[in-house]
Amino acid sequence: MFMSLIRKRRSIRRFLDKPVEKEKLDLLVEAGLRAPSSRGVNPWHFVVVTDREMLNRLSQSKEHGSAFLKHAAAGIVVCADATKSDVWVEDASIATTVIHLAAASLDLGSCWIQIRERMHAPGACGVLWYALPVAADFARSRQTAANGDRISR
Ligand SMILES: Cc1cc2nc3c(=O)[nH]c(=O)nc-3n(C[C@H](O)[C@H](O)[C@H](O)COP(=O)(O)O)c2cc1C
Repeated sequence: MFMSLIRKRRSIRRFLDKPVEKEKLDLLVEAGLRAPSSRGVNPWHFVVVTDREMLNRLSQSKEHGSAFLKHAAAGIVVCADATKSDVWVEDASIATTVIHLAAASLDLGSCWIQIRERMHAPGACGVLWYALPVAADFARSRQTAANGDRISR
């Protein structure tokens, strides 16, 4: 039921040292691709990152609120092309939220990392990106968070 997913979702920033199955990463990308966008322009690209060195580099993209990406099994970089739509921020934000909810439905922990107008180091894409790190075990990550081991911004 949709409301139980809404109640279950939260931002997860501490992750298990387990890979995420490719099938689940594919489902997350599908969720983003199926998000609504203004005029159906879909001005986005979703880049799945599992390379540890790249995750490490992306985790340093801003001063605060992105370091935990280093410990995620994967990240999804949401890029939008501002030349394709004047409401690309809304479109990319909606897609990011849909992916975040889809991750929770698959028992994967995830959290937004806001990069637009925050980046202090060159990122993977030129226009905009958000990164959604994903963890392998939502339930255990939540348990850890509930025990006060949550990393806050
Ligand atoms: C647009 C947006 C940007 C965010 N950026 C970050 C971020 O850069 N780093 C971070 O740790 N959390 C980020 N968050 C997560 C929020 O901190 C989180 O949603 C909020 O504290 C509420 O917690 P909850 O998601 O567990 O309900 C962002 C959330 C949104 C919607």
